[in-house]
Amino acid sequence: MSETLENLYSEKRQFPPPADLAANANVKADAYEEAASDRLAFWAKQAERLSWAKPWDEVLDWSNPPFAKWFVGGELNIAYNCVDRHVEAGHGDKVAIHWEGEPGDTRTVTYAELLKLVSQAANTLTDLGVTAGDRVMIYLPMIPEAAVAMLACARIGATHSVVFGGFSVEALATRIDDADAKVVITADGGYRRGKPSALKPTVDEAVGRTDKIQHVLVVRRTGQEVAWTEKDKWWHETVEQASPVHEAQAFESEHPLFILYTSGTTGKPKGILHTTGGYLTQTSYTHHAVFDLKPETDVYWCTADIGWVTGHSYIVYGPLSNGATQVMYEGTPDTPDRGRFWQIVDKYKVSILYTAPTLIRTMMKWGEDIPAKYDLSSLRVLGSVGEPINPEAWIWYREHVGRERTPIVDTWWQTETGSIMISPLPGVTAAKPGSAMTALPGIGVDVIDDQGQSVPNGGGGFLVLTEPWPSMLRTIWGDDQRFIDTYWSRFEGFYFAGDGAKKDEDGALWLLGRVDDVMLVSGHNISTTEVESALVSHPAVAEAAVVGATDPTTGQAIVAFTIPRGNVDSSGDAGEELIKELRNHVAKTLGPIAKPRQIMLVAELPKTRSGKIMRRLLRDVAENRSLGDVTTLQDSTVMDLISSGLKTAK
Ligand code: WT7
Repeated sequence: MSETLENLYSEKRQFPPPADLAANANVKADAYEEAASDRLAFWAKQAERLSWAKPWDEVLDWSNPPFAKWFVGGELNIAYNCVDRHVEAGHGDKVAIHWEGEPGDTRTVTYAELLKLVSQAANTLTDLGVTAGDRVMIYLPMIPEAAVAMLACARIGATHSVVFGGFSVEALATRIDDADAKVVITADGGYRRGKPSALKPTVDEAVGRTDKIQHVLVVRRTGQEVAWTEKDKWWHETVEQASPVHEAQAFESEHPLFILYTSGTTGKPKGILHTTGGYLTQTSYTHHAVFDLKPETDVYWCTADIGWVTGHSYIVYGPLSNGATQVMYEGTPDTPDRGRFWQIVDKYKVSILYTAPTLIRTMMKWGEDIPAKYDLSSLRVLGSVGEPINPEAWIWYREHVGRERTPIVDTWWQTETGSIMISPLPGVTAAKPGSAMTALPGIGVDVIDDQGQSVPNGGGGFLVLTEPWPSMLRTIWGDDQRFIDTYWSRFEGFYFAGDGAKKDEDGALWLLGRVDDVMLVSGHNISTTEVESALVSHPAVAEAAVVGATDPTTGQAIVAFTIPRGNVDSSGDAGEELIKELRNHVAKTLGPIAKPRQIMLVAELPKTRSGKIMRRLLRDVAENRSLGDVTTLQDSTVMDLISSGLKTAK
């Protein structure tokens, strides 16, 4: 990408917060001024929302950049902050987790029960020889034990590394090896799409490939037959029999809390390391500020899996540190039917919902008559994370889920940032559909050109973070040099996030996707996100993925893969007509330079297991190449579907 990104799309709609929410918001507009006048004092104040065993001497030590130390000298226990202190404050009977299994079985876990389970698990891990600083792998379905296992590790100072339950033997084995882990916590299986799906065989094979693992702790969830080795112990025969008394010991603020692996585009997975005091300060504060959580009355639900950073920060650490009551759901959104999410919102009277654009677009494709069948009047704040949300998907979310009442917070962050960095505040910001708006109080963000100069309003370029932040990654596990090279070398003094972004005429921020995905068409840098959003703004389109394919005349040409909405006839001539109309629609919305050379109508798009579109594979199709690595695909049959569909469609 040279110089700046083209700025083609312009959005005029804007939605101010509802008056009552604004009047009672946890965080009001003055937070921005307060943070701007003394950033470190602002973060120190947020750290005081937590309970510290020993106060810190220094808020930030940035004497050896990019290696930050926050709340130096301070000591705290994360599990104490997420569990014990709520029980001590008299909230033991309060529900921490309303758990809903995919088959419809349920469990209610109060804060007092959570304390018991976490203490028991901490005692068991200690009995198994796990001590502070050891690494423990967690490979579990979305069951309460996943949160318990993470908190038990945190309680004894062990560093957890959660691996998403859909990942392969290979992925698990390399992570065990890289983290040099001693124990794996897993289950016989979990429920996916109406069936038990085994986890234990994957663990058996992965453990067999390394000599690192000494013990495997197995939760019985599905009752499936499992092979047994001398390393295995049942959770119900150990943890559930252990003493429920465990005294949490405080750890230094910079004590390692977890390693979470991100795949990235090339090379071996990066083990992103997060530590204790700064991480909890920012996850806790942002959860309080961005979702306006009122722990007494709200029911919060984040639909992410615990295997992603969203599950770490906004299912476990943020919400529990704030004493929230939350819903945790084990399964898929279409089991037993496509109304499952709305049925859960209705049943538990969910008031804050946090989900991903991929799900919102899937719901659009399924049609608005599905959410319309449910009572969603409990909802008061909606959140989005993971990808840019197209303006039309945002509007759909607000209209058909939020029923035109709720603010939407489009939250930009990364595994590396640990917590939300850019987002509207629901009681303050007049949000524009598709924009993450502004940096949160205490966060420094800019968009710069390839010379490192800040672009003016109306310009586009690279998103960078200009100041260290409390929940920043501390390094890549075992590879400080790669940490420096990946994030801190492209622009002197800035953290380079890898995303393109623009500032609109009011200075609001628009995320434009990964810079690797930017297209160069006749000398113009065009973001795939903008063309996708233009396509989704057509009423016949539910979802679109755009790539740049090599073109003899324009360098790259725009090729779009488009999923029509459920009720649209797209076969034969009607399909040809639609394609013509869509090409013109994009040209009209963004200008002729963005008119796709080719549009293909497809039934599905290739996505990673965390729901991001894999444009790399679509580029292979667009350039008639054989497909690259498909191992991280959520559904490996999708590419066959796309390729065969294209052949028959001429
Ligand atoms: C990348 C980070 C953050 C937790 C889940 C993903 C993209 C994330 C947004 C958003 C536009 C977004 C970026 C970022 N992304 N949120 N609101 N708007 N893009 O974590 O797997 O580490 O991915 O997700 O490209 O760099 P992750």
